[in-house]
Amino acid sequence: MIALNMEHNPSVTPMKVLHLEDSLLDHQLVCRALKKANFNFEITRVETLEAFTQLVNHSAFDLILADYRLPGFTALDAWSALPTNSVRPPFILLSGTIGEAAAVSAIHSGISDYLHKDDLERLERVIKRALEVCQAHAAKEKANRELALSEKRLAEFASYLQAAIERERAVIAREIHDDIGGSLAAAKLDLAWISRHQTEATIEAHVQAAIEMLQHAIGASQRIMMNLRPSILDQGLFAAIQWLATSFEKRTGVKTYLRTNNEHLVPKKDIQLTAYRTAQEALTNISKYAACSQVHIELSDAENVLTLEITDNGKGMSGQEMAKTEAFGLRGLQERAKTVGGWLDISTREGTGTSIILSVPLGPPADSSHDALEEQFQ
Ligand SMILES: Nc1ncnc2c1ncn2[C@@H]1O[C@H](COP(=O)(O)OP(=O)(O)OP(=O)(O)O)[C@@H](O)[C@H]1O
Ligand SMILES: [Mg+2]
Repeated sequence: MIALNMEHNPSVTPMKVLHLEDSLLDHQLVCRALKKANFNFEITRVETLEAFTQLVNHSAFDLILADYRLPGFTALDAWSALPTNSVRPPFILLSGTIGEAAAVSAIHSGISDYLHKDDLERLERVIKRALEVCQAHAAKEKANRELALSEKRLAEFASYLQAAIERERAVIAREIHDDIGGSLAAAKLDLAWISRHQTEATIEAHVQAAIEMLQHAIGASQRIMMNLRPSILDQGLFAAIQWLATSFEKRTGVKTYLRTNNEHLVPKKDIQLTAYRTAQEALTNISKYAACSQVHIELSDAENVLTLEITDNGKGMSGQEMAKTEAFGLRGLQERAKTVGGWLDISTREGTGTSIILSVPLGPPADSSHDALEEQFQ
């Protein structure tokens, strides 16, 4: 049901006016005032609430003019009978004196304007203003709807991108494992064989140096695999975050404390991965920007909400830094949190430090066989 005729273009199609009026004479006066104002219009008169309701539910009108007091009902009853699932057309009270209280209550209930029947020379101005207000309102509603749709699409796209990234990461990790890891391990075995079957000291020195290099490469490929596909999550979220915290402390020398109320927390896989990636990005940011001496990580499932808080005592960040257009880490985390029904809070003060807090309401316990992201861990 369309109450407002949005297609109406006054220069081409006549403005469709509905006039709620029981006096034929008053109706004719209104028609005369509309003609005098040079409106291109089509007008329909109704007298009863039933006829009014019937019409507004089946036809679109650009304007409603209504007498206030009609036999057995008032214009407020007519206003309430308008369909509410779309923008209502401008509704102007055109009446004898109705009293200030009734006029105020009418305007409060959303009626566009009030004009005394003796003041019809002002009708043109009142109609034009009401049409403008209504059009602005309709345009705002349309813009809001488009914005909501575009935000929904963006969230869906972010979720799709994240799933695609995780899938790609898993494929790369598997290839490193199968091709590079396998070849490095085989080369190391062969070098060990050479070392056992030769006696030359200079050759032995070269072999040992090559084994050391290979060992280094094997360590690096394992580290890269772990970043790409956190198989450590198989041992539980706490163990995985602990692994992140320990490697962070080793790499940066920043004292890192980890606390939890539940070491055996097993949320659904997609929530685990979100929490893991949140901790990973927060720690990467800390090592890049925070210049801090301590990091506290707290993981909790109190009140059936997973909370992961990563706090540093570094330099904090400004609003400008948070809103950087070319920075996607924190924004990505925010979108990612939404994909699992959670949210991300960032609390920071320049000179005091930063807290990144992920909160995700936990549903019923995970049934891993039905987990959509399960295969990304394989
Ligand atoms: N713990 C922190 N302490 C101080 N500043 C921070 C911290 N974390 C983030 N920032 C600031 O906030 C900005 C935005 O961070 P964000 O992770 O979104 O982007 P980025 O790290 O710059 O780039 P990307 O993550 O896309 O590689 C950073 O550039 C940095 O200036
Ligand atoms: Mg970042």
